[in-house]
Amino acid sequence: MKAKIAVLVSGGGTNLQALIDAQESGILHSGEIALVVSNARGAYALERAAKAGIPGVTLIKKELGGQQGFEEALQKVLTEYHIDVIVLAGFMTILSGDFTAKWPKRILNIHPALIPSFCGEGFYGLRVHEAVFAYGVKVTGATVHFVNHIPDGGEIIAQKAVEVQPGDTPEILQRRVMEQAEWILLPQATEKVCANLQK
Ligand code: GRF
Repeated sequence: MKAKIAVLVSGGGTNLQALIDAQESGILHSGEIALVVSNARGAYALERAAKAGIPGVTLIKKELGGQQGFEEALQKVLTEYHIDVIVLAGFMTILSGDFTAKWPKRILNIHPALIPSFCGEGFYGLRVHEAVFAYGVKVTGATVHFVNHIPDGGEIIAQKAVEVQPGDTPEILQRRVMEQAEWILLPQATEKVCANLQK
């Protein structure tokens, strides 16, 4: 039996697309994407899900009475779809310790830097690459890790390094990290976690 995967998104969903493509090419074969959950209405990621025939659900924190209501609604929909593994792919909400404790080693996140550098609260989106740039490190990359109660603090599953090059801007770097690391690493790590669940 394949593990059922829910991908949680907030935006463009290029990492979701990488997972969909990996499913089509067979790189991801021990799990299947059964659900996409967005916490933002109109996220392009939802269109990507629809095109691939994957059900999409939108849950808005404000409309659900805040974090607790959001997580209750999320848990409900995950149960409804018999989800085994959750992948955070550009998901911009931090999940509470209460929620993550219910899914030990079942929630993966992709972070666009080499943890423990440039991570934790406040390090998201372009801000990560701006910080890399400002510090002047010559190597950055991406990390896939399990999610626990510490932001970006769970066990590391996989990492891939990417060089910072002369003439880079945070935007150029963001794109290179996606192309050379994130889109490769996330499907591989997801496959690994799903395969381990089958054992
Ligand atoms: C990626 O850089 C990911 O590492 C970070 O948020 C971004 C999401 O991009 N967590 P996308 O929505 O997958 O295109």
